[in-house]
Formats: sequence, structure tokens, C-alpha cells
Amino acid sequence: MTDLLLRGRTLTFLRWPDSTDDHGAFRYEEDGGLLIRDGRIVAAGSYADVARQAGAETEKIDHRPHMLLPGFIDAHAHFPQMQVIASHGAELLDWLNKYTFPEETKFRNAQHSRRIARLFLDEMVRHGTTTVAAYCSVHKQSAEAFFEESHGRDMLNIAGKVMMDRNAPEGVLDTPQSGYDDSKALIGEWHGKGRQHYAITPRFAITSSPEQLEMSGALMREYPDLHMQTHLSENYAEIAFTQELYPWSKDYTDIYEHYGLLGEKSLFGHCIHLSEREADALSDSGSVAVFCPTSNLFLGSGLFDYQRYRQREKSLRIATATDVGGGTNYSMLRTMDEGYKVIALNSEKLNPFASFWQMTRGNAEALSVADKVGTLEAGSDADIVVLDSHATPSMRLRMETVEMLAEELFLLQTLGDDRAVREVYVAGKPAKSIMVASGE
Ligand code: GUN
Ligand code: ZN
Repeated sequence: MTDLLLRGRTLTFLRWPDSTDDHGAFRYEEDGGLLIRDGRIVAAGSYADVARQAGAETEKIDHRPHMLLPGFIDAHAHFPQMQVIASHGAELLDWLNKYTFPEETKFRNAQHSRRIARLFLDEMVRHGTTTVAAYCSVHKQSAEAFFEESHGRDMLNIAGKVMMDRNAPEGVLDTPQSGYDDSKALIGEWHGKGRQHYAITPRFAITSSPEQLEMSGALMREYPDLHMQTHLSENYAEIAFTQELYPWSKDYTDIYEHYGLLGEKSLFGHCIHLSEREADALSDSGSVAVFCPTSNLFLGSGLFDYQRYRQREKSLRIATATDVGGGTNYSMLRTMDEGYKVIALNSEKLNPFASFWQMTRGNAEALSVADKVGTLEAGSDADIVVLDSHATPSMRLRMETVEMLAEELFLLQTLGDDRAVREVYVAGKPAKSIMVASGE
């Protein structure tokens, strides 16, 4: 495969940026270069320096004046919910029963699973997301379809078959044993194949019996390097029902703790209404709280207190996510725009550098994949998004008054969406322009 040399404004983060003046937190090259070989970035820096390292055969693509960043990372989304987005008028439990569970029953059909897996990853790429932690449906074939599609595109994705054995229609139920067996078979087939990662995925405590949570814990002990993903403390009615189902528990988090599900690769979606004890338990175990702003607003679930969780003595590891189809947009730009507003309701203003850190390196660190993705450093996989700050008439007009990089990033977040994503590279190969060219 020939080398590829990209040129453009490059931006990558080294650590959390405390403010817009925290220039040590990122590297920005006005005329930057990225040399890509075999799906990896092998040199990064000023274009002049990087170009010197390129051989004569190297293919060159000039993206100036656009900005090259690490591909966005979405830490929580449900691929079988593409046709659930925009379902009107319900809070979490009614929304699950009325719209989501019936929709997910369709994924018993392998052909339907394959079609939606393809369309889902198309949407991710179109919106600049190169890694997603995805929930499949309860059906083994939905996870097979997802991994086949993801592997075929050489994407680094994390996914798992949902385990759920009660409080839902028959068509979306497994049993503790079949959930365990199917998960194990999928792990054997897919975990570590190319760039695929398996996540043990008990949906949440309402739809998993104690036996199923026990078996989820057993899987975690058998495969300690795997991710675990579930939902926690999203909605008041959910919390109350959970407490009824597990009357011995101190609180919602205690249930997952009891079954050994907390840990550094454990991703807890929502975490809106945590007590101090619960936040301590997540912090002590290194677990990750996943902020899903568009979903939390759409379902009326509540306001995630991002700054409180970051700044408390025992700070939480935080990731951000679309939570499609409770979430209303596939774009991490739209997600962080809504996140900014939620944080503003708590009288804080998230600085634009912190936002872009969060959707790239921050989410990579939270998902424990920062050694591979989330940066443009030499050695990283070449998952890259190319952003156009002039993509729409309103963006062009507003850009006339923008003077600083932080302002430009904030504009991209506030007004940007898939139209601002000019190109996406997955493992060093163009992925968005190819899709547009083939008319998908
Ligand atoms: N809790 C359990 N399942 C789900 C789901 O599919 N979406 C959301 N937002 N919350 C959940
Ligand atoms: Zn979810």
C-alpha cells in the first residue's frame, strides 16, 4: 500500500485543557502534515518537516484550509434504534416499552440486522465518528452483523450483544445461560479480530435478573480485559423500579457493584441522579460515567452535572455520547453543543478546547483506547476527521468575525453537523468521500 501524506491545519490534544489560554494542552499546526503508512500515522508535525520524510511514491492530499483532527469517538449508542429516533412523547420506561423493545425484536432477522448495521456505520462515518461503543440487540445475529460490517470497514469499534432476560417482550429476551453462551461465542469469534472489541452488555438491572447479572460478572472475571457497558441512574421511575427489584441494595450502583461489574473498562450510560456514595464507588473503581446530553434532554431524564463530577475530590472519568436512538443526532458536534447548554444550566461554561478534547482524546482515554485512537501523534491509528468551518451560509457569515482558534472550534460545535465533515479517514483510507461517490 502506498504511503499517504495529508496536508491541512492539524489539531490534537495532549491533555485536558483548563482554559482557552492553556496552549500546552494541544498541538496545533497552521500548515500541518500527517504521513500515513499501513493504517497508522508514522509522522506528524509541520508540513515541511513531515514532507521531508515522505518517499517519492507518496500520495498527497491537500485539505487546506480545512482542519484535521482525530476522528470523533461516541461512547454509547444503540445501532438497532435508528428507526426509534424521533419517537414522540414518552419518558424512559414507556419509551422502551412502546417504541424501543418492539423495534429491537426485528433484529432477530439477520438480513435486517445487516442492513441497519451498514446504515448505522455509514451515519457514524458521515458525521465524523470513527469509533463507537455500540449496543446491539439481544439477538446474537445483530452483533454478528455489526462486527462483520465494522471489521469490513476496518473500524475500531466496541460492541456487544445486549443481555436481557425479563421485563420486556418475549421477542427481545434471552436467558442467563443463553446470554452467557452467546456472549462467549461472540467474544471467541470477534474480540481482538482486527480492530474489534467486545463489550459485555447487560442492558440494565431492570431487564436482567440477579442470575443474569451474576453471569455477567462471571464473564468479566473470565475475560478481564473486556469492556462492560450498561445503563445507570437515568430516570427517577427507573431508579424506583430498580430499587423494588433489588430491595437489598444500598442504591442503584450497589447492584452492579455487588455483581462485580465496576472497573476501569466499565461504561455506565447516563449517571444523572447519582448520590455522593454512588459517585465515590464509580470513582474508586475507575468506572466511566457516560454523558448523553441529547438523549437526557429528549427523554426528559435530567441534567448530568459534568463539572461537579469532574471537580469533586474523587473525580469521575467521563465520556460523552449520542445515545442514538434516545439521543437525537449522530453528530458529536451536535452532542457537545447540547452538552454545553446542559453544563451552562449548572452555571458553568465548557471551554471549546475541552469540548474537542472530550470528543477525541478524552473519550479515547475513557474507553481505554487512547494508545490507538483519539490523537494525531505518530504511532496512532490513522482515524481522522476533516472539518470545514465554512460549510454552510451561516457558518461562512459567522466565520467573517472569527479571529481565534477557540472561537472557530466553538462555531464548529455550535453550528456544525455532518455538513462540516468534509472527509473521514478510517485506518488511513478515505471513508466519507467513497460513500458519497458510490451514492449511499
Ligand atoms: N436503559 C435501558 N435501555 C436503554 C436504552 O435503550 N436507551 C436508554 N436511553 N436508556 C436505556
Ligand atoms: Zn443507552
